Amino acid sequence: MSAPLDLAAFPPSFAWGTATSAYQIEGAVAEDGRAPSIWDTFSRVPGAIDNGDHGDTACDHYHRWPEDIALMKGLGTDAYRLSVAWPRVVPGGDGPVNKAGLDFYDRLVDGLLDAGITPSVTLYHWDLPQALQDRGGWTVRDTAEHLSAYAGVVAERLGDRVTQWATLNEPLCSAWIGHLEGRMAPGLTDLTAAVRASYHLLLGHGLATAAVRAAVPGAQVGLVTNHSTVAPASSRPEDVAAAARMDGHTNRWWLDPVHGRGFPADMRELYGVELPELPGDLELIAAPLDWHGLNYYFPVTVADDPAGPVPYAREVRLPDVPRTGMDWQIDAGGLEAFLLRLTEDYGVRRLYVTENGSAFPDTAGPGGEVHDPERTRYLEEHLAACARALRKGAPLAGYYAWSLLDNFEWAYGYDKRFGLVHVDYATQRRTVKTSGRRYAELVAAHRALHTAR
Ligand code: FCB
Repeated sequence: MSAPLDLAAFPPSFAWGTATSAYQIEGAVAEDGRAPSIWDTFSRVPGAIDNGDHGDTACDHYHRWPEDIALMKGLGTDAYRLSVAWPRVVPGGDGPVNKAGLDFYDRLVDGLLDAGITPSVTLYHWDLPQALQDRGGWTVRDTAEHLSAYAGVVAERLGDRVTQWATLNEPLCSAWIGHLEGRMAPGLTDLTAAVRASYHLLLGHGLATAAVRAAVPGAQVGLVTNHSTVAPASSRPEDVAAAARMDGHTNRWWLDPVHGRGFPADMRELYGVELPELPGDLELIAAPLDWHGLNYYFPVTVADDPAGPVPYAREVRLPDVPRTGMDWQIDAGGLEAFLLRLTEDYGVRRLYVTENGSAFPDTAGPGGEVHDPERTRYLEEHLAACARALRKGAPLAGYYAWSLLDNFEWAYGYDKRFGLVHVDYATQRRTVKTSGRRYAELVAAHRALHTAR
């Protein structure tokens, strides 16, 4: 038995949420005027996705959203992080707006508000319109401008009801995994393209921040980035230096420019790629944010790897440590440490855990129930880490469990299940797992604590 959760550490206004993203749950990829995104294309590349899976139907959330809102309500959560699909709203990437696409999110937002759930809207969770990819995607500056125009369109339409906005989800994955490692759309393995993409993504963030603020007075705009704590595999100076490089690649490259420090000089030198900078860009990228969203899943340990790919640091698999079904090391201490780093080192004044969760191979029991003790434990341990960070001064305002539903886990397809709610893809039947029930209990207990006072 783990220690009871220190619920009193969470402030009364704490947002208890779940998170999803459009391509991973919506399906209906060819309905109501939606055009293909880079993920529709990438998921058709032979061998790109486990089992040849794709998001054509996913959780059919496009049609089943009322049921999914009812599930959130059943959990007692009061916040929901969703993403808007750019290819539904501006199918060509730029140019004409598709009213039917906007209407969907309009209904969804109304449904959430009716259920007493506050939406937090992420504008870009990786589903770039393919039409823009065909014109260079994130490697060209225009894409940042188009993101901003699209952000303005969505903000205009939903801004009378939505105040919580995020520009990008995990630009690291779009740039490094999508353009350098090739394991995500658009599937490139090109350092120059990757560095240029990283720059244009952050520029797009800055431009979109301004666009949302212009459209929605009082908007609370943030950025969602994913991070890992990085440890050297040994005390050898080479490994310590490798850890510093990996920290630069994973953490500082994203946080420094956004928080006003510019792109880290050591990493610029290491990449050796000229940034497509224009005067004024850095100020845009560093526009003060209302909040920062941290996605945290695992820590990494690295050793020096001079012959390997950038950043010449090889991940070392530690023996005898607990791991999830993704083979990711479980270490809730990393979440606490990162929340404190954002607070103390970067001076962030409002924080959310915008994603955190675990995949395990769940199976339904004879009565259809899904018992997932490992995920329950992961959840409890990471909430305990949030409580410790709060006690130490982190301005943490909410936690969004990844994910509400089992869903399309990108290159891993449907095999990796992160949901608090199990989805039987053959029938689209949803079943709240034990972890979901535990989350509901904790949320209710926190609420009771403050009602009682
Ligand atoms: C994050 C993504 C999210 C989900 C989780 C498991 O990197 O933002 O869409 O796939 O990982």
